[in-house]
Amino acid sequence: MKTKTAKESLSISTDLVLPSDTNALNGMFGGELLSRMDRVCCIAAQRHSAQIAVTVAVNHVAFNKTVPIGSTVTIAAKVSRAFGTSMEIYADVWIEDRFSGHKTKVNEGIYTFVALGADGEKITVPKLFPETDLEKERFEAALRRRQLSLVLSGKLKAADATELKSLFV
Ligand SMILES: CC(C)(COP(=O)(O)OP(=O)(O)OC[C@H]1O[C@@H](n2cnc3c(N)ncnc32)[C@H](O)[C@@H]1OP(=O)(O)O)[C@@H](O)C(=O)NCCC(=O)NCCS
Repeated sequence: MKTKTAKESLSISTDLVLPSDTNALNGMFGGELLSRMDRVCCIAAQRHSAQIAVTVAVNHVAFNKTVPIGSTVTIAAKVSRAFGTSMEIYADVWIEDRFSGHKTKVNEGIYTFVALGADGEKITVPKLFPETDLEKERFEAALRRRQLSLVLSGKLKAADATELKSLFV
């Protein structure tokens, strides 16, 4: 199966934050951003796998900065690593100044998707070849995140999370 680059899966969405998308402080509602990231990550996973992709886990989300009402929000997602039937997708979230166009990174989310056929059976996905320094960094760390997520979900024994354990010795 052909190895693919991260940029082949790059998926970008740009949209506004409207009043119905906000919390009581007129900042973007967290669940709204999670949903938008999930959609863009799904498209990235489907571009990489050329299959139907479903969310199996949200590995990490950091709501570092408030996204004010009226913001123009850009979400850029790429596959950071592919395993067997699963793929880790990294979504970076930016807002832009409406006058200068200057973009500020505000949040990020890391999702895991699984590729499925039309019959719902899991399908093996192409391996990922990281090219840039950031892609290589995310590729390396993805194995630790996968092991942590599997341990937390009870699907992997902590004793078997060798890559994760190596962080602490
Ligand atoms: C996704 C789904 C098909 C996986 O089925 P399963 O039989 O549990 O599959 P497995 O345990 O073999 O896991 C499949 C892959 O996902 C990975 N995975 C499973 N749970 C994971 C988790 N919590 N974190 C990271 N990876 C996970 C496994 O390691 C495996 O990866 P690999 O093939 O690359 O080695 C099934 O759980 C499902 O249909 N879930 C619902 C998906 C959905 O509807 N999402 C939308 C939410 S509303």
